[in-house]
Amino acid sequence: MNIVGVDLGGTNYAVGLVDENGKILARIDGETKVHEGPDAVVERLASSIMSLSEGKSVLAVGIGSPGSIDHLTGTVKFSPNFPGWTDFPLGEKIEKLTSLKVFVENDANAYALGERTFGVAKGLDHVVCLTLGTGIGGGVITHGVLLRGSTGIGAELGHMNVMPNGPKCGCGARGCLEALASATAIKNFVKDGFERHKDSSLFRNKSAEAVTPKDVFDHAKKGDQFALEIFNIVVDALAAAVGSLINIFNPQIVVLGGGMANAGEFLLAPIEERVKNYVLPTMLGTYRIALSRLGKDAGILGAASIVYERLGKK
Ligand code: BGC
Ligand code: NA
Ligand code: ZN
Repeated sequence: MNIVGVDLGGTNYAVGLVDENGKILARIDGETKVHEGPDAVVERLASSIMSLSEGKSVLAVGIGSPGSIDHLTGTVKFSPNFPGWTDFPLGEKIEKLTSLKVFVENDANAYALGERTFGVAKGLDHVVCLTLGTGIGGGVITHGVLLRGSTGIGAELGHMNVMPNGPKCGCGARGCLEALASATAIKNFVKDGFERHKDSSLFRNKSAEAVTPKDVFDHAKKGDQFALEIFNIVVDALAAAVGSLINIFNPQIVVLGGGMANAGEFLLAPIEERVKNYVLPTMLGTYRIALSRLGKDAGILGAASIVYERLGKK
């Protein structure tokens, strides 16, 4: 039976109709427009779900949503980059509008399940995932089981502290990995440094507001000093976080995904190198760090995997 997978991101969302083998039969992509508030987003998601599932037999809908999720009720308790999504009954609202069974899970938890079912972590029982996007998400599978913690909101790896008293994070704390290495953090570094680095090639054809993380990576590659400065902060923060995660979980694989992972080897190689400064000598040779290869299907397949996990399949 088909499943509908919903990948809800801070900037874009994707809804896909997925068959038993993880093949995406059809998909709809759109802008989330978080500023319009949760109900407007729900309307958009529901209409995409309905147009994809019309006339098809659908087992259930899986939604990967950013934030602290009560996965038993489908409620978003709090979501740092989604203003107004406090105790928001996302699952219930989508069920009412679509008349389909809906399961909600933290987006990065879903992502980790997807990588284990369909991606680079296929078949592995000890997996750590980081999704690098508007926020930074985390998903941990240990002994083959998704780690949720005592109230279901654990594995928030993006809010691991990597710099005491560091820059402010969307969650309110300081020095979170997300405040140093997310797309949002990079954009903030660009804006904050603009006055001091007006001569940077980043600003040749663009305002500070318009510079994207991809621009920063591209210009760092070409040797722009300011872009390299930001790139190094990002890599150092990620290396410290990944190193700590390896020491804590002793995973077989650490998967890096999300939009920023499109930077590929240019990002991966220095992380791999610098991680060695942070892991125990006994950890060397026990882990692999890999980029997701599911590309823009990753979120949808992750969301679909939630349904398998909840129904005890796969
Ligand atoms: C949220 C996480 C989410 C991540 C990626 C973070 O800000 O706290 O729950 O997984 O962003 O969307
Ligand atoms: Na998580
Ligand atoms: Zn934080």
